[in-house]
Amino acid sequence: MKILQAKNYDEMSQKAAEFLIERIRRSPDINLGLATGGTPVGLYAQLVKDHQKNHTSYQDVTTFNLDEYMGLSSEDPNSYRFFMDKHLFKHIDIKKSNTHVPLGDTANPQKQCSDYENLIERHGGIDLQILGIGSNGHIGFNEPGTSFQSETHIVELTPSTRESNARYFNSLSEVPFHAITMGIASIMRSREILLLVSGNAKRDALEQLLQGEVNESFPASILRTHPAVTIIADEAAIGSI
Ligand code: GLP
Repeated sequence: MKILQAKNYDEMSQKAAEFLIERIRRSPDINLGLATGGTPVGLYAQLVKDHQKNHTSYQDVTTFNLDEYMGLSSEDPNSYRFFMDKHLFKHIDIKKSNTHVPLGDTANPQKQCSDYENLIERHGGIDLQILGIGSNGHIGFNEPGTSFQSETHIVELTPSTRESNARYFNSLSEVPFHAITMGIASIMRSREILLLVSGNAKRDALEQLLQGEVNESFPASILRTHPAVTIIADEAAIGSI
């Protein structure tokens, strides 16, 4: 794993945007894996800025998001589809039909899981996956204990994940109990991974990722076995590691 240090959140977002833009310019038909949460918001803002200023084109880019809450429709402001439209898709020239987010309000969740996995495969897999990390080491919504062999599946969110994501909802009771997420094996099939880590709330998670054992009790630890992972972390997250 390669680790790049940034002074703060803004610099992390700027470096992440440069990293992505370089890949997009090199391979205009790149398949990107995208993440939600607070961490990549600054990255998306930088991509939008760059698109307006330098006209980096997304005409041939295809995206696959990691996860979605179960039970939320794409029009729900807390759905990850809504998040992606709001922060990125509606500000760039990407074709809506090239943007994929798992469906949270599907009648047949199991079918949705295998369909999503097949869809990624049919497109030739993900070239570059953006990841954030939960403070318990989750990636996507793969909570501690998830099998490293898992593919897209339905998960029950842990109380700590529901609590940390409650800040986006009116109250904790509104946070869904389940989500659909790409699995660990799906994430590991990406040819390249860019992990963003910001803030002292993520310091322990980053330390465990860098120094702990590779173990299913800390899902992100599997990244240590991937051949092409870059971490961009800010000083608050790196601390004295
Ligand atoms: C959510 C998302 C993850 C994200 C994590 C951390 O649970 N499913 O993909 O990495 O939260 O979020 P944040 O970036 O807001 O700390």
